[in-house]
Amino acid sequence: MDVKQVGVIGAGQMGNGIAHVMALSGFHVVLNDISQQSLDNALSLIEKNLVRQASRGKISDDEVTAAMGRISTTLSLADVGKTDLVIEAATERETVKQAIFEDLLPHLQPHTILTSNTSSISITRLASRTDRPERFMGFHFMNPVPVMQLVELIRGIATDEDTFKTCQAVVEKLGKTSASAEDFPAFIVNRILMPMINEAVYTLYEGVGSVRSIDESMKLGANHPMGPLELADFIGLDTCLAIMNVLHDGLADTKYRPCPLLTKYVEAGWLGRKTQRGFYDYRGDEPIPTR
Ligand SMILES: NC(=O)c1ccc[n+]([C@@H]2O[C@H](COP(=O)([O-])OP(=O)(O)OC[C@H]3O[C@@H](n4cnc5c(N)ncnc54)[C@H](O)[C@@H]3O)[C@@H](O)[C@H]2O)c1
Repeated sequence: MDVKQVGVIGAGQMGNGIAHVMALSGFHVVLNDISQQSLDNALSLIEKNLVRQASRGKISDDEVTAAMGRISTTLSLADVGKTDLVIEAATERETVKQAIFEDLLPHLQPHTILTSNTSSISITRLASRTDRPERFMGFHFMNPVPVMQLVELIRGIATDEDTFKTCQAVVEKLGKTSASAEDFPAFIVNRILMPMINEAVYTLYEGVGSVRSIDESMKLGANHPMGPLELADFIGLDTCLAIMNVLHDGLADTKYRPCPLLTKYVEAGWLGRKTQRGFYDYRGDEPIPTR
């Protein structure tokens, strides 16, 4: 199937990045959110990021204008139903995602492929609630989308080969690389990454190290480009906690229990960069550790 129009549901951190790379690669994008404010913020952020790419000589000014011209925004799921491929990138909560797919179904064209950018929720379970489990799969971008090369493509138990091949071709058109993953909790990257981040929070919780010493240790001692706590703030602490809960519940192994300190930060609403406070406080000129 030749995908021309892509619907992106959720215009947060991931949704705006997905709309950005899709539009830049020539796809027409219908970007949806429940909040007009999120849509407005997403459009201005996409433009800012495209202009930055142009100022570095990576793309031309004409490409910026063309990409912005290929994005439309809407508060109505009916507009998303007209597209060939839907990428759901709303809040990481299963009830939210299920409700979105349920509301979307009556508006879909028969050929439309449904995908979710979920970091951890079962693709098979989400697919089973729709009328097209064979045309449903996981389309998992990494953050920040315009920078990161990998897209995990996750087959649900019913996903058919045409759907997989179509999504693989879309990833190729984006100039990115796909890795095929089976549908088990948190797939590949987060199955490995999140327990490491959770362990870093335990290391902080137990007083083994401070925020700074933990991040410095992993940057200089393990050659990681970012420390695990800095990375957790970047991903969003609510997202990290949700993924640990999915690993804990889905694999029923106590080694995945979320650190109580991670839960505490989320309860405080200190979710990382997006709320200006997490393991670091971003409200000043320089990030300052909060512990
Ligand atoms: N943050 C990451 O590093 C990362 C990486 C890969 C995948 N993901 C996944 O991407 C998805 C989105 O994460 P995010 O970090 O962009 O979250 P976010 O909180 O930045 O954005 C979520 C957006 O969804 C919108 N939304 C909520 N309910 C909606 C609904 N019913 N209809 C339409 N929009 C709705 C919210 O208004 C918000 O704008 C999640 O499934 C997450 O697991 C996140």
